[in-house]
Amino acid sequence: MKGKKIGYAMCGSFCTFSRALDAIAALRAAGAEIVPIMSDAAYGTDTRFGTSLYFRSAIRQMTGREIVHTITEAEPLGPAEPLDALVIAPCTGNTLAKLANGITDTAVTLAAKAHLRNLRPVIIGVSTNDALGAAAQNIGKLLSRRRIYFVPMAQDIELGESIQFNLLSPWVQIGCMAHIVGCKFIKS
Ligand SMILES: Cc1cc2nc3c(=O)[nH]c(=O)nc-3n(C[C@H](O)[C@H](O)[C@H](O)COP(=O)(O)O)c2cc1C
Repeated sequence: MKGKKIGYAMCGSFCTFSRALDAIAALRAAGAEIVPIMSDAAYGTDTRFGTSLYFRSAIRQMTGREIVHTITEAEPLGPAEPLDALVIAPCTGNTLAKLANGITDTAVTLAAKAHLRNLRPVIIGVSTNDALGAAAQNIGKLLSRRRIYFVPMAQDIELGESIQFNLLSPWVQIGCMAHIVGCKFIKS
């Protein structure tokens, strides 16, 4: 991953933030440069899973960069400031719906739109409790889209209601590497 610039975008699935930090740490350890991106919800919401200040500070410290969190900051992440790959993990049901339907009103969705102009991969780690409900059609749409890849997802047995990415850290890392070298590793 040395010399690769990976956009790492986080949406408002706060219960998976600590796993997302693990994925960022794994990508950094593998040598990648990380451009952190957060949706408004992810950037500014305090929840029982931790304060937004705590997560923002941790991400700034791990990546050595300011967090892209406005559409103005995200817009250059296309031809102007290209990324090698863009990871969106956790990706909420809300952001899935926007991505599937061409809505680009957050830093994450605009980063994806800008990045796809460069014909480079977007890797999505879904985390939502309506993956078999309202989000199912959006996952289906995105599965069939070129250059969009999914981290393997599974029913969250513990909660009995969520579908979330699992084994996030190794899968994101392997996914980024595979797609950068042009092989279709995750998407069948
Ligand atoms: C504590 C808490 C946990 C949440 N967890 C999830 C989640 O795991 N998956 C999800 O799709 N939405 C979850 N949400 C709802 C999203 O944060 C909400 O839909 C938000 O508008 C998403 O915006 P974004 O997609 O731009 O980040 C959660 C909200 C709260 C307050």
